[in-house]
Amino acid sequence: MEHSFWHSKWHNNEIGFHEPTGNALLVKYSDVLLGSDSNEASQKRIFVPLCGKTRDIAWLLSKGCQVVGAELSEVAITQLFDDLDITPTVKSSSKGKVYSAPNLTIFVGDIFALRRDDIGEVKGVYDRAALVALPDELRRKYANHLIEITHNAPQLVITFDYDQSKLPGPPFCVDEKRVIDMYAGHYEISLLERSDVEGGLKKKVKADNLVFSLSI
Ligand SMILES: C[S@@+](CC[C@H](N)C(=O)[O-])C[C@H]1O[C@@H](n2cnc3c(N)ncnc32)[C@H](O)[C@@H]1O
Repeated sequence: MEHSFWHSKWHNNEIGFHEPTGNALLVKYSDVLLGSDSNEASQKRIFVPLCGKTRDIAWLLSKGCQVVGAELSEVAITQLFDDLDITPTVKSSSKGKVYSAPNLTIFVGDIFALRRDDIGEVKGVYDRAALVALPDELRRKYANHLIEITHNAPQLVITFDYDQSKLPGPPFCVDEKRVIDMYAGHYEISLLERSDVEGGLKKKVKADNLVFSLSI
């Protein structure tokens, strides 16, 4: 998608993808990112690509994680910090703006401009509605870029599987085959769950949530 597509979505508050209470599948499968020992979580630095203003960041922070995010829209990130009730420090860099606070750093700009040194070492990647936001031709580039900048960090990935002919994306259908195609050479892939999207996608089309663990 063009950047203007997403800027206009945020500008017009057309953000049906945003979940005001966060994503229950992150809570259910958080072990993939945080391990089973709750003391371990406090040492974890988690990257959230294409983060929007997801409430999942608040949840990760509440578990003691450090969170690094990347998001195109400054509108989204202003709202993210407002919702968190945190006043960020804002700096400009050649890659865009960086909003930061203790345990939280968000790069505002194109994720493809980020390099490994920018985000630093991360222990895991939480991809909810990031892969599905991108059309086929950009998705593989995104997947390879993510592998590169996170140095192959394990991922918890949540996608949608549905009949793409019934709805133009985004969100796009990213079924198990597509995930395997993109990531099989780099990760052990486990499909942890396939469950109904309640009420259908955009309340129109029957769809499944797919939850994957990508481990190394
Ligand atoms: C479908 S939304 C998902 C947001 C969030 N992950 C969530 O679960 O609510 C996709 C987000 O990706 C952002 N985005 C799209 N292309 C991007 C890019 N090239 N770099 C950074 N962010 C991008 C959009 O602005 C949008 O907020």
